[in-house]
Amino acid sequence: MGGINCHGGPLCEGWGSQGFVLRGFWIGASLMDNCSLVRHLGHAIWKGNMMRKIVAVFMVFLMGTAVLLLGGKSAELLAGKKANPVKERQKLMRSVGKAMQISVKMLKGKVAYDGTEIASRMKIMNEVAGKFNDDFSRLFPEGSDDENSIMDFDQESSAKADIWNQVDDFKMKSGELKTASAVAMKQAGDKAAFAKALENVGKSCKGCHQKYKADKKE
Ligand code: HEC
Repeated sequence: MGGINCHGGPLCEGWGSQGFVLRGFWIGASLMDNCSLVRHLGHAIWKGNMMRKIVAVFMVFLMGTAVLLLGGKSAELLAGKKANPVKERQKLMRSVGKAMQISVKMLKGKVAYDGTEIASRMKIMNEVAGKFNDDFSRLFPEGSDDENSIMDFDQESSAKADIWNQVDDFKMKSGELKTASAVAMKQAGDKAAFAKALENVGKSCKGCHQKYKADKKE
């Protein structure tokens, strides 16, 4: 009735409770059909029997959810909330810096020496060093150096462009931190041995920063 040709679709009478999958196919097909899906849904909600109402309301719900998801995604992109590799790697480096600081404080006796705490901090360093290597292309996209980062990532960076001329060397240097922090982690229980191991960790920081990190602007 109502003059709508519903093409024998799922919103018409007589489909029973089976054939749910077929209904899905039909809805998909009808999107490409000249018989408008929206008209069907409206018709089904207002004029249909209970089954048609339920199916139609469910379809509207699905479409609404899809619109919300897509809308949310684009709003997120517009707000610049997408992952920022420059901020991310700086945050990782700060966690390494903190690990260094607390270790030095404990060695100097400014804070009580705690081997367990030290070991977990060395583990953080070890993981960051691993990420700098394994996740290099994500964390260090080209153009995210100290000259261009603001333009591309809206965040100032002190990463030197040389990194991308010598990627293998840069990765080797993060490998040095990885090894040195693993050794230091194992020595965490023994203060004197850890002090020695931390020297190598410090050397690896310096080795990379001297070449690949610009001094912060005063
Ligand atoms: C393989 C290279 C590499 C090693 C090894 C390395 N760093 Fe870094 N570090 C960098 C780079 C590159 C930056 C600049 C990142 C940026 O601004 O985009 C940086 C930045 C930093 C920053 C500043 C973070 C910020 O907020 O901007 C700190 C702190 C830091 N590193 C501490 C350390 C310490 C401590 C070690 C050793 C335990 C270490 N780093 C080892 C490459 C390295």
